[in-house]
Amino acid sequence: MAAPLPDLVHQTYRSLFSEDPLLVRSPGRINLIGEHTDYNQGWVLPAAIDKQIVAAIGKRDDPIIQLHALDQGQTYSTTLHGIERSGLLWPDYVLGVVQQLIRSQYPVQGFNLVFAGDIPQGAGLSSSAALECATAFALNELFSLGISKLDMALAAQAAENDFVGVKCGLMDQFASLFGQERQLIKLDCADFSHEYIPFNHPDIQLILFDTRVKHSLASSAYNERREQCERGVALIRKHHPAVTSLRDATAEQLNRYVKPANETVYQRCRYVVSEIQRVQDGCDDLKKNDLTSFGKRMFETHEGLRHQYEVSCHELDLLVDLMQGREAVLGARMMGGGFGGCTINMVTAGEVPDVIYAITHTYRRKTGKELQVYLARPSEGTTVLS
Ligand code: GLA
Repeated sequence: MAAPLPDLVHQTYRSLFSEDPLLVRSPGRINLIGEHTDYNQGWVLPAAIDKQIVAAIGKRDDPIIQLHALDQGQTYSTTLHGIERSGLLWPDYVLGVVQQLIRSQYPVQGFNLVFAGDIPQGAGLSSSAALECATAFALNELFSLGISKLDMALAAQAAENDFVGVKCGLMDQFASLFGQERQLIKLDCADFSHEYIPFNHPDIQLILFDTRVKHSLASSAYNERREQCERGVALIRKHHPAVTSLRDATAEQLNRYVKPANETVYQRCRYVVSEIQRVQDGCDDLKKNDLTSFGKRMFETHEGLRHQYEVSCHELDLLVDLMQGREAVLGARMMGGGFGGCTINMVTAGEVPDVIYAITHTYRRKTGKELQVYLARPSEGTTVLS
């Protein structure tokens, strides 16, 4: 049997650098509801999951940054003063965070970092945010920087925005750092206040169906959606200067000022404004233990992402359509940025094997692709191991 992830990472670090490292674990995330609302100052409802990046880190006495990605079998090194895009992608998630910390005047010095993970990549489970958060958390511990978890999340997001070039919101990084066992995080992306909502339902299983269609968030589509939302806000703002984001916008304003100007921008904004409200309503459902109502909203979110926001794809739509109307299925929708990745599904626990069997089989028959299935449960956020 393969060694557990932390042992593997620890041993590799030891064999490369002949000393014991500090070990940090940082998880991927799911999101129950609230998609593409984070960069519109709305609410999101993610949770950290029981799949993670494990990073081993140690100090050096020179200004070198020495990185080793076990899963990729690749090494990359640079210096604190020579940080630039690597051309390899994975080092950029680490380097982007280091650059942010240096910009904020934190006394980061040279270090070695070895990491590996079990978060499926390109599945929309935020393996990149997990690596960014592992880096920020590990550097904070190693050099006693005194950074708050919120500032770590913001530095990780800024790394992704400025260094990697994806204009993502704060959801993924926040969820990775702030996750708790059996809790969802209701995050207000306007002021970053948050509240935990218990998710402790032994009779319900969250299942992820991975289309195996690789999404590329770095592709312009994500940034384009963000720009379209900003255009919608600008159109309203001419008449209502107090509206600074879609969080403040009403359906009536969209009809009046955005629809006549640009139908596509209107459809994007209409989805976002409804989704922001859906998170609120969905949280009320959860507090009342009404998972049936919550599940219906998940299907509604999918409809909006499919037809108005247009970030779904054939495989995601197929998977959600296949779940519709099954008695054991409370809710299903595409999750994350879109254009591939996973659907998230809420299923009666006793029926899980039957549902998985049926969906896997039909997916194979209709697409020729092998569905990957993961069971997810809300888990603890970034921590020091050992
Ligand atoms: C990606 C981004 C997040 C969020 C989602 C869509 O995961 O990184 O910030 O915008 O897409 O909800």
